[in-house]
Amino acid sequence: MDQQSFIQNLPKIELHMHIEGSLEPEMMFELSKRNNISLPFHSPEEVRKAYEFDDLQSFLDIYYQGANVLIHEKDFYDLTWAYLLRCKQDNVIHTEIFFDPQTHLERGIDFGVVVGGIDRALTDGKKKLGISSQLIMCFLRHLDEESAFETLAQSLPYKDKIIGVGLDSSELGHPPEKFQRVFDESLKHGYKTVAHAGEEGPASNITNALVLLNISRIDHGVRCVEDSVLVNQLIESRMPLTVCPLSNVKLKVFESMEQHNIVELLKKGLCVTVNSDDPAYFGGYMNDNFNAIARSLYVTNEQLAQFSFNAVEASFVDDIHKTEMKTQITDYLVQSGVI
Ligand code: ADE
Ligand code: ZN
Repeated sequence: MDQQSFIQNLPKIELHMHIEGSLEPEMMFELSKRNNISLPFHSPEEVRKAYEFDDLQSFLDIYYQGANVLIHEKDFYDLTWAYLLRCKQDNVIHTEIFFDPQTHLERGIDFGVVVGGIDRALTDGKKKLGISSQLIMCFLRHLDEESAFETLAQSLPYKDKIIGVGLDSSELGHPPEKFQRVFDESLKHGYKTVAHAGEEGPASNITNALVLLNISRIDHGVRCVEDSVLVNQLIESRMPLTVCPLSNVKLKVFESMEQHNIVELLKKGLCVTVNSDDPAYFGGYMNDNFNAIARSLYVTNEQLAQFSFNAVEASFVDDIHKTEMKTQITDYLVQSGVI
């Protein structure tokens, strides 16, 4: 079996995907018409051509603009459903997705409209596609602490639909310590915590997110290699890193996929996982990310499967569900002659 076929059928788990980042240009146009929102582009092709980024900020500027077409509960449903259909194609069996409430609250859209649409699609995803899921809300780190606290308060009536809180947007200039109090409060409400750290920012952001925000996973974290003490700590604690290879190349965290350190991190024994981040903007979904690794870096099928095992370990589901997913991966490895 060639490696591409192995990847296609490997059961996969996604832990780092911003639902607003799965808005494909075609849907952006459809929703702009449906909701009478004007776009600074004339066609989906023109939108795609604009997706050349110099860094994280140049992407975020376009990404927040795109999210303006999302208004009604059905828009959030349609967006999430389209992503779940792509998960099915890529044999993603479980996904834990991010959303950015502040991007929508700022435009006068109700928290319940956003969560309602996403959650209805996730429920259908379980029923009709057999894909399990969790939902994580992210605080935008370029906004202030007060806004994060307000968002936390607005989330509380929907707590049963949200497993945790995260931290995303511009890492440079907005370190984890800015959100220590709101993360403390989130933990008190029973939310799990994760944070983007060590994507564009230094390794010290990872250390501070671990110590001050009590996170259960690090989103990206690829710059941990700049601190060998931290790397050893991550190995020993099995602290998961949700790495996004295509995103990192698109946003110039690495010059090329050949330079990416994901396989090096895996070989060191870190709990690294593969994720798509903002698949509509960065050139692909889960299988595209796995294929990009396989094409540019020397990696065995066993190592590719290890990314899936790591993601099960890092997921926010109970032990019974973890065992079921691990069994699915192991059965696949036996069936394909890898073990
Ligand atoms: N929001 C969406 N994608 C992001 C990324 N890669 N880093 C920070 N914030 C984001
Ligand atoms: Zn991200």
